[in-house]
Amino acid sequence: MSAGGDIVIVGAGQAGFQAAASLREGGFDGSLTIVGDESVARYQRPPLSKAYLAGQASGESLALRPARFYADHRIAIRLGIRATAVDRAARRVAVASGEPLAYDHLILATGARNRPLAVPGADLQGVLQLRTLAEADAVRRSLTGRERIVVVGAGFIGLEVAAAAAARGIAVTVVETAERVMARAVSRPISAFFRTAHEAAGIRFVLGAGVERIAGRGGRVAAVETADGRSLAADLVLVGIGVVPNVDLAAAAGLPVADGILVDHRLLTSDPSISAIGDCAAFPSPFAGNAPTRIESVQNAVDQARCVAARLTGRAAPYGALPWFWSDQGRVKLQIAGLATPHDLAVTRGDPASGAFSVFRYREERLVAVESVNRPADHMVARRLIAQRAPLPAGQAADPAFDLRALVGHAAA
Ligand code: FAD
Ligand code: APR
Repeated sequence: MSAGGDIVIVGAGQAGFQAAASLREGGFDGSLTIVGDESVARYQRPPLSKAYLAGQASGESLALRPARFYADHRIAIRLGIRATAVDRAARRVAVASGEPLAYDHLILATGARNRPLAVPGADLQGVLQLRTLAEADAVRRSLTGRERIVVVGAGFIGLEVAAAAAARGIAVTVVETAERVMARAVSRPISAFFRTAHEAAGIRFVLGAGVERIAGRGGRVAAVETADGRSLAADLVLVGIGVVPNVDLAAAAGLPVADGILVDHRLLTSDPSISAIGDCAAFPSPFAGNAPTRIESVQNAVDQARCVAARLTGRAAPYGALPWFWSDQGRVKLQIAGLATPHDLAVTRGDPASGAFSVFRYREERLVAVESVNRPADHMVARRLIAQRAPLPAGQAADPAFDLRALVGHAAA
């Protein structure tokens, strides 16, 4: 495509806005329209469960870019409007209110939504989830004056909220179906460290337990009941049990979807006029043996947006950015570089008891991921080691005297 034409972006989130910005930065001169169904947008989600929840960040600090950026760059933003259908033959997107939007290229950046907790009582007052700014405001308000919160799900969001609530003196119990915290994403040593750190802050864990129902009193939540017969008193429940990708629009348009909208290494769907990026897209990741992979992170949303913008402005390249992620839980910062599976070998560098260490994870003797706790320097060097596929024997990774930076320099040379 030339650097003109009409581009429509569905989804006013991290990926959608980055795509628009990168298209202009890359010289795209045609019309650019972003449609988003949230009435407030242009904000970053990560602080919602961290500094914003703790009252340490204002609404303005969440902005992705200064407000005038969009007008200055001729980016039309239509908020509070849902895209309802894609007519691929006519290249038009139908929206809930107003005329359909014609496109030469369509970027689906529809993100993901909270996975609902499908148990009786999940609709009681005081049962909350956290993805949008509106939901974060509700959680922030609801924490005031509460004595006992039950968090369902010991993933990133559950643990970040648990830490924030405990810091406010609220009694916190976390219920999780898996036997360890953050089991989807991190190694056993990291799970063990975080569990101990949260317990030291007063958080109680009920692991290996499913929620059977939420009991109420007068329409408000009163207790969370587990399948193994426990009743955990609560005046607030935060459900953080993962997300479901928003693939409905793509599926209804006949595009292949699985756990995500399926795209190729250029982030194109089966329709050459439609790309998909961010939380909603499943792409062949070179860091996962090119298996369809869906990643929920800011890095992924931003780098995929840049990749599509580069292609649409004449600089096509396959998507192969190294995945990385962070989570702040109380005073502990977790950073992850690379992608691991639950079975990858884990070796530890540094002493977990010191509160700062890293776990190096290997698949078939190759370094595939590094998880760092309060060791940002390890994280930065790990990103380069994994991206450069630098050979690092597990014995060297575990040896604190071995200088990892020397290896990066060597691999780069
Ligand atoms: P989204 O941000 O979900 O944006 C998609 C938008 O599209 C949404 O506004 C959605 O409502 C809209 N939409 C969907 N369908 C339609 C439609 N048909 N019509 C119009 N609009 C539509 N990542 C990290 O790397 N580190 C972190 O510490 C971290 N913390 C997080 C904390 C929280 C509380 C949350 C919720 C997420 C966090 N993430 C973190 C994940 C990160 O924010 C997401 O990966 C990122 O926002 C994905 O961007 P996206 O644009 O793909 O999707
Ligand atoms: N009861 C208890 N725990 C459950 C249940 C349930 N019914 N169902 C799922 N879980 C647990 C999972 O085992 C997992 O540990 O909930 C946890 C969800 O963790 P994540 O998948 O990390 O999802 P979440 O914490 O909701 O984070 C969603 O936000 O931080 C971002 O990018 C991150 O995409 C992630 C998103």
